[in-house]
Amino acid sequence: MLRHPPGGRVRLIVACAATVAVLGPLIWLWQDSLLPEAYSVMDMGYADYGGGPHGSSQHEAHSAGGASAHAGHGPAAGRDVTRLTADAGRQADVSVSLVARKQRFRLSSGREFDGYTLNGQSPGPVIKATEGQLVQVRLINESVPGGITLHWHGVDVPNAEDGVAGVTQDAVGVGKEFTYRFIADRAGTFWYHSHQMSHEQVRGGLLGALVVEPGSRKGEVTDAVALVHLYNGVRTVNGREGDVHVEAAPGARARVRVINTEYGVMPAWVSGTPYRLVAVDGTEINGPAPVTGKALAVAAGGRADIEVTMPEDGSPVRIHLGGPAGVVLGSRSYDAPAVPRPAATLDLLTYGTRAPLAFDPGKPDRRFEYDVGRRPGFLDGVPGVWWTINGHLYPDVPMFHVAEGDVVRMRISNHSGEGHPMHLHGHHAVVLSRDGVPATGSPWWVDSLEVGADESYEIAFVADNPGVWMDHCHNLPHASEGLVTHLMYEGVTTRFTVGGSADNEPE
Ligand code: C2O
Ligand code: CU
Repeated sequence: MLRHPPGGRVRLIVACAATVAVLGPLIWLWQDSLLPEAYSVMDMGYADYGGGPHGSSQHEAHSAGGASAHAGHGPAAGRDVTRLTADAGRQADVSVSLVARKQRFRLSSGREFDGYTLNGQSPGPVIKATEGQLVQVRLINESVPGGITLHWHGVDVPNAEDGVAGVTQDAVGVGKEFTYRFIADRAGTFWYHSHQMSHEQVRGGLLGALVVEPGSRKGEVTDAVALVHLYNGVRTVNGREGDVHVEAAPGARARVRVINTEYGVMPAWVSGTPYRLVAVDGTEINGPAPVTGKALAVAAGGRADIEVTMPEDGSPVRIHLGGPAGVVLGSRSYDAPAVPRPAATLDLLTYGTRAPLAFDPGKPDRRFEYDVGRRPGFLDGVPGVWWTINGHLYPDVPMFHVAEGDVVRMRISNHSGEGHPMHLHGHHAVVLSRDGVPATGSPWWVDSLEVGADESYEIAFVADNPGVWMDHCHNLPHASEGLVTHLMYEGVTTRFTVGGSADNEPE
């Protein structure tokens, strides 16, 4: 028998101990990060009450003490999200059927693309409604493997209609269908897209525009949609590779509804005449002044409605949308040369004129921090440098708890080294400040807010739409990398799970 020299044995023991000391915690971290086959987002992470009351009894006290527009359904009711629907008895004013397919299709240029269509086209048809109408959309999945949903981006729909697989419904499998019903209660520019495997299905074209027109003002102006999407890196407007021409008579007013369905912030600028930014994320700007020599920054998922008055001499106007394809408005000619992007960007913190808010963000019921960072760790067993929320990796992130009627303030700060377009479902929030500088322009309401690296925004909203709402980065690959959390109302529950038999995978 061979005897180890004593020094060798010590070295061996030390080496083994060191290996265990290093690998042990790693294995534990790895194992701890593995996501179960099915889980409810309600069980994710930890509750964050934002300094407000926890749970039911305090909630009752809070409701009783505060002004309550929300008597009648206490938390004890335990409302399932599926009960949070639009008026079931009401007839639809606008009815649309959308058939989804996975297929190879041609862009206008003839270039072929493997992706998804709705009624044979991508983007899907523009859905139009007038403010106050009930919109009903029947979604039929003919051939999209893995299932689909539709989320109404920017429309504060009842929670059951929000279209988030695993949170508000099950993904709609091949051969199945789902009907969405909601009241288009706010005029503006919105869009819809799948929220099942969204980082892949949105890129593949399962999306479209939704325009809600105001009851009055109809037909007064030329009105055009400019939905920007990249198919395999090819920038398109309304699915076209080249310019989109829109007829607008000399002296006429024209509104162009820019929708950024991409994953990054998109610059937009106008040549040929000054423009006004008349709406952001489906909300009108108060007192929008004419702008020249400045570009707009449209957040991913965000919308910007640009209004121009056509020059009297009949010359065309070009709306540049971040690349070669744009919108050219004209009558006699559409020959509007491209001009370079202006160096300056319009700052919405000071644009337009002030107007009172319908609530007082100075007296919030809750205050939340949403601090985006980045650190090494495991995400579902995969090592990497992952996004964090308040220092935590998905799924151990905060669950923001609110009660109906709360005034909520949230500070979104970004220490991750990259910009993030943050999107809260079901609500519009007003921007109060950026990096401590208060907003002094028009109330700036957002549903998609670009928070740049090292920036910090304070926003406020009223918790007036009960449900379980996703609050995530709209650079959808980031969301699939864990930059997702939720806002949950007291007394609302969801019976859906991420994973499970419907293979729900919202991101
Ligand atoms: Cu445009 Cu969570 O969505
Ligand atoms: Cu992001």
